[in-house]
Amino acid sequence: MKLTAHADLSALNTFSLAARCRWLAELTRVDELPSLMATPEFLGQPRLILGGGSNLLFTCDFEGLVIHNRLRGIQVEDGGDHWLLQVAAGESWHELVCHTLAQGMPGLENLALIPGTVGAAPVQNIGAYGVELASFCRHVDTFNWHTGQQERIPAEACRFGYRDSIFKHDYQESHLITAVGLALPKAWLPVLGYGPLGALAAPTPQAIFETVCATRMAKLPDPAVLGNAGSFFKNPVVSAAQADALKERWPTLPVYGAGEGQSKLAAGWLIDQCGLKGFAIGGAQVHGQQALVLVNRGGATAVELIALAAHVRDAVQQRFGVLLEHEVRFMGASGETWLDEVLA
Ligand code: EPU
Repeated sequence: MKLTAHADLSALNTFSLAARCRWLAELTRVDELPSLMATPEFLGQPRLILGGGSNLLFTCDFEGLVIHNRLRGIQVEDGGDHWLLQVAAGESWHELVCHTLAQGMPGLENLALIPGTVGAAPVQNIGAYGVELASFCRHVDTFNWHTGQQERIPAEACRFGYRDSIFKHDYQESHLITAVGLALPKAWLPVLGYGPLGALAAPTPQAIFETVCATRMAKLPDPAVLGNAGSFFKNPVVSAAQADALKERWPTLPVYGAGEGQSKLAAGWLIDQCGLKGFAIGGAQVHGQQALVLVNRGGATAVELIALAAHVRDAVQQRFGVLLEHEVRFMGASGETWLDEVLA
């Protein structure tokens, strides 16, 4: 396993922020984990598992061990009415979507072009254009740092929710994701609820894939060109009563159902209505095509991105009385942190 001390992380986070870590380990084999776990230097040190670094904001240098998950491999089995896939955590999510479509195994087309790795997908239960990872996930294979054993977590135990799972909570410190098991039904069912998909004359998997790619490319900046981490905030879930009151006052506000008595609001719309598209603090900017995305327009620092995030959150709170929570995960010197904590 390759180990680097005082490594530069700017190429390992899609905001391209210049952060460093005390050590960087490149993980290419699961059987390297027990020895990494037993290395005296790393005992009791903060640990961060990094996939594509596409949902992460380094608020400062990381004073611990970063493990860059580069486990590779895709296995496919014929499971009768499903294709069963076992995919190593370090595989690129989008390449997996392309690979399955090319092999005649549709299902993942709505999730095309989501940046990041397969191992990161269950952590926040990636979702787009009406589909979430949870619909296809059978299990998540992990290495448990506490026991030193490999452990398979069935999907039912992953507590998948909107941009949420057990891997953000109880298993955050204890479990490293090594692979994800997926089941793609052979009886393909298109998901066409999202505007431009419903308008497709012949909704084949390839047509959906192409429409999703075109939609994303029109709205969402390519992190390779303009540093960003996708949606910066979650779409807020409020009571149906609050959503009704807001809708009465602002009839064009997009509101979605979110379970009994609850509604989800479009955070991008709320930010946009505050007139913040294009608003910048130093190198940090609210994206001009999608207000929910904050970008590094060149040379942004963590301090600038944090100040911009606080400004956006406060503007929405003042105007609409709705509190935005960040979807991008903030990483402090020794572990996860939150906007309020870094502002304190
Ligand atoms: N809108 C505006 N102005 C904006 C942005 C959005 O008025 O600047 C309006 C749009 O017109 C639309 C509504 O807000 O009516 C929702 O916008 P959009 O369809 O672009 O989707 P979103 O709710 O902003 C969510 C996900 C995206 C995912 C898309 C498509 C979250 C936090 N974000 O965005 O996921 O691709 O839906 O399903 O749930 C991500 O998680 O990083 C991500 C990009």
